[in-house]
Amino acid sequence: MQSIDLRSDTVTWPTPAMREAMANAPIGDDVYGEDPTVNELEATAAAMLGKEAGLFVSSGTQGNIVAALTHCGRGEEMIVGREGHMFRYEAGSSSSLGGIHPHIIDVQPDGTLPLAAIQRAIRADDPHFPRTRLICLENTQGTIGGIPITAAYTAEVGDIAREHHLKLHIDGARIFNAAAALKTSARDLVDPADSVSVCLSKGLCAPVGSVLVGSNEFIREARRIRKSLGGGMRQVGFMAAAGLVALREMPGRLHEDHANARVLAEGLATIPHVQMNLDAVQTNMVFFDLAETAPIAPEYFSQRLKADYNILMRPYPGYTRRFRAVTHYWITPERVQTVIGAIRTLLA
Ligand SMILES: Cc1ncc(COP(=O)(O)O)c(C=O)c1O
Repeated sequence: MQSIDLRSDTVTWPTPAMREAMANAPIGDDVYGEDPTVNELEATAAAMLGKEAGLFVSSGTQGNIVAALTHCGRGEEMIVGREGHMFRYEAGSSSSLGGIHPHIIDVQPDGTLPLAAIQRAIRADDPHFPRTRLICLENTQGTIGGIPITAAYTAEVGDIAREHHLKLHIDGARIFNAAAALKTSARDLVDPADSVSVCLSKGLCAPVGSVLVGSNEFIREARRIRKSLGGGMRQVGFMAAAGLVALREMPGRLHEDHANARVLAEGLATIPHVQMNLDAVQTNMVFFDLAETAPIAPEYFSQRLKADYNILMRPYPGYTRRFRAVTHYWITPERVQTVIGAIRTLLA
């Protein structure tokens, strides 16, 4: 990877071990359940996350949509964070494809949904209201700094869900980042959840795919929904092979990305005209604002970084002066220093 691409961890290229595994993967027709590598990937993800079964899906978005459509029927409601990926960035698919009514709650600066707000959002049994079916959490919370959500908090939400006969889904696109940051297992973090979608193609570096996990019964139904969305894939063992390397080899190195993010954040924080909350940097994401006093307008900042230094970093959607830099496998400590130096020069 020649550019220093900090736009997201989705930009990661597969590692050499993944390319080799892809070239040599045994394959079959996965719609018939005959792809041994896909079957191994699904079983491996399920075991790592403490669930009975898994389903290989094309993307994190597809994992979340399939989960929502499996848990909820038309006119039913899911409780979800206003800043959550499922509400903000999935093209309104839960409502357009599933007729699901999102009940949105503001996400707190620590990435959680207030428990009292979740309780308040649960509907009484009244013909005026949609039926509440699902609570959705996101771990790490990607739009609020990549904050990891603790097992203790998730257990409290799980208790609320059980008390009201609701299901709990976790968008665990970066659940292994959360586990690394909190020094616990991903399995513990998702223990109370009925379903979890985990991305292989973000910090774990696989070129494509996510795995949705849950009970045998849930996955049986999710497989049907995935097919209805056109997500039944055929000889995809070669992609699953990269996913297996991702699950087996990559979670153990995510702390390096977090350390690099920390160094980047601390370096940027010393540069005049850069404003940020260092406490919020807990995983692989660094959010910062360009102060009004900056000698370069925000719209030119990323253009100059790209043109002069081959550094890619986008303004953060919805904010005029905010940027997000995401560290990953291809962002080495040397590259972090290059970025700090480039931004120091640009803002001098
Ligand atoms: C928290 C979260 N969930 C889900 C997704 C969707 O993943 P994909 O881009 O594979 O659809 C993303 C993508 O960045 C994400 O950040």
